[in-house]
Amino acid sequence: MQGKKVSESFTTFTQIVMPNDTNSMNNLMGGNLLRWMDIACGICGGKHANRLVVTAAVDNVSFSRPIKIGDVVTINAQVTRVFNTSMEIFVDVYKENYRQREKVKCNEAYYTFVALDDDGRPVECCELIPETDEEKHRYERALRRRELRLILAGRMKPEDAKELKEIFLGEMK
Ligand SMILES: CC(C)(COP(=O)(O)OP(=O)(O)OC[C@H]1O[C@@H](n2cnc3c(N)ncnc32)[C@H](O)[C@@H]1OP(=O)(O)O)[C@@H](O)C(=O)NCCC(=O)NCCS
Repeated sequence: MQGKKVSESFTTFTQIVMPNDTNSMNNLMGGNLLRWMDIACGICGGKHANRLVVTAAVDNVSFSRPIKIGDVVTINAQVTRVFNTSMEIFVDVYKENYRQREKVKCNEAYYTFVALDDDGRPVECCELIPETDEEKHRYERALRRRELRLILAGRMKPEDAKELKEIFLGEMK
């Protein structure tokens, strides 16, 4: 299967925060933001895999900066690495206010998506070709993030986490 560049599936998703999206403080509800992030990643993963993809996991997301009603939210999603049937997608979120004319980064997260065949079974996904230094850096670091999330999900034994062992035990030698 021929590999694809990160830029081929890079996805930007934009929304304006409407009253129906907010909590009683007139801030965007966290769940609505997670939904938009999920949609952006789903589009990105689908473009990379050229298949239906489903969310398998979301890593830590913090909500340290409120996004207000009327703000414009821009969400960028990019594939960082393909494993076998799963891929890791990095997403970052910016808010923008017409009056203040500044774009502020609010959140970021790593999602894991799995490509499915026509019968809904996980299917191998084409490789990723990282090009820029940043893409290469995220690509290299993806293995340790994968091991950590698989351990936390109870899908990998800590003793099988080669990359993490190398980082922690390798440095102790
Ligand atoms: C995701 C899903 C397809 C995985 O199916 P499965 O039977 O566990 O299949 P496998 O064990 O072959 O795993 C498939 C891939 O998913 C990855 N995966 C599964 N659970 C994961 C998790 N919690 N975190 C990270 N990766 C995960 C596996 O590592 C594997 O990746 P690889 O092939 O690149 O090594 C299945 O759990 C599912 O359909 N979940 C519901 C998806 C969904 O509806 N999402 C919307 C939110 S409700």
